[in-house]
Amino acid sequence: MPSPKRKSEAGTDNEAKKQRTTTATATMTAPTPDSHIDPELAIKYWSSTEASVNGVLGGFPQVSRIDLQGSSNFLAKLRKQSPHTHLQPKQGKLKSAVDCGAGIGRITEGLLSSIAETVDVVEPVQAFTDVIKGKAGVGEIYNVGLENWFPAREGLGPYDLIWNQWCVGQLTDAQLVAYLARLPAVLSQGGWIVVKENLSNNHDGQDVYDETDSSVTRTDDKFRRLFGEAGLRVVSTEVQRGMPKDLYPVRAYALQPK
Ligand SMILES: C[S@@+](CC[C@H](N)C(=O)[O-])C[C@H]1O[C@@H](n2cnc3c(N)ncnc32)[C@H](O)[C@@H]1O
Repeated sequence: MPSPKRKSEAGTDNEAKKQRTTTATATMTAPTPDSHIDPELAIKYWSSTEASVNGVLGGFPQVSRIDLQGSSNFLAKLRKQSPHTHLQPKQGKLKSAVDCGAGIGRITEGLLSSIAETVDVVEPVQAFTDVIKGKAGVGEIYNVGLENWFPAREGLGPYDLIWNQWCVGQLTDAQLVAYLARLPAVLSQGGWIVVKENLSNNHDGQDVYDETDSSVTRTDDKFRRLFGEAGLRVVSTEVQRGMPKDLYPVRAYALQPK
């Protein structure tokens, strides 16, 4: 699942062997890991998941505190280094942010609403957003998958910060590129798109499909390639420190239009 996840659940020796075998016998048209993504299965899985930090973090609620602290430090550095006055820490709160694939609003509540005046929420499962609805600083809620969210068409933004965490594995590569490519139109000048995700440690450098919630875990190389295809450049990136050793590494990327 795109939440914190044990390395042993996928991308391990067994998975690598399975993928090597597949490669040996496959034709040039072998299905890619993301071709297995089925949004109906994904929504079925998440809709049957408890609306709690434990639920959205796949049974690892203890990583939430360290994750939010790491994100807060990452953002503070971005703001400090920004040449744009409206984004600098001395301005106080950012005007507006959006939490994409927000779940129950763990990040909105634990981070974004303390750094932005208004935080919009995009999340397909309404039972999750019912938890955060009406809370201080929460703006509009869009119950839709990111592949079907067209913010410019709806006249939304500009956002100073577009946060995507532990959710873009629900999108195919093509959907992710298309989604990321439409974000600059709703980003304020100098604003950031942040993607914070698990990284595949598959032995053959492959992305890994997870049938539990029908998602993929991508490699660092794949993420960087897709960001480039979407017309974005990485302006800052950090590995989340302090994650338990048996979980996938987690990396945050701050992106801006090239
Ligand atoms: C692991 S949870 C992470 C939630 C939140 N980002 C966090 O870190 O607490 C994954 C979330 O992605 C949502 N999701 C599933 N399919 C999605 C899609 N197509 N677009 C956006 N979010 C999706 C799930 O409903 C779930 O809330």
